Amino acid sequence: MTPRHATSLRRETDDCSPEGERLCTNAMPLRVAVAGLGGYAGSHHTIFAELEATGAVKGAAASDPRLAEISPLCEQFDFASRHVRTWNRFDDMMAAHAAELDVAVIATPIHLHAEMHEACVNAGIACYLEKPPTLDPMCLNFSTGAWTAS
Ligand SMILES: NC(=O)c1ccc[n+]([C@@H]2O[C@H](COP(=O)([O-])OP(=O)(O)OC[C@H]3O[C@@H](n4cnc5c(N)ncnc54)[C@H](O)[C@@H]3O)[C@@H](O)[C@H]2O)c1
Repeated sequence: MTPRHATSLRRETDDCSPEGERLCTNAMPLRVAVAGLGGYAGSHHTIFAELEATGAVKGAAASDPRLAEISPLCEQFDFASRHVRTWNRFDDMMAAHAAELDVAVIATPIHLHAEMHEACVNAGIACYLEKPPTLDPMCLNFSTGAWTAS
């Protein structure tokens, strides 16, 4: 499987902003998924909704095991009208969407980061991993090793 971002995230030196290189506009929109809805994940959803209006991004999916409990957030982020699919399980979201994703955001509690990051790396998806990546230095070594090897 060729990850979508392998072809769509190319950069061009033509038509660049004065500040330097920027993503090529014909590679847009980047298709994104977010692990997590509540807490700090909400700031990602808010920003992606704004970026979607510019055509830079298309929200594809979001996952959270507390989906039923925090359903008002789905309305707040306009998931229905934006056709963002929601999943209770991260693994199910990845199984359904990995092939179409350019970027995944991991905005879940820290102890979940390593496994989710590894899943993104293995799927060839660019990953924005919330800080801190881990509280375990050994785990950080493993994660950066996996990233370097990919
Ligand atoms: N960059 C910043 O300034 C900043 C600020 C605050 C928090 N953070 C980071 O953001 C991350 C999340 O922190 P938080 O305080 O929002 O955590 P949180 O405990 O509020 O969790 C965020 C969301 O993730 C969901 N979640 C839990 N398990 C999940 C799973 N298996 N799959 C998908 N979603 C799941 C929770 O239900 C919740 O809605 C942490 O890494 C934290 O350090 C960063």
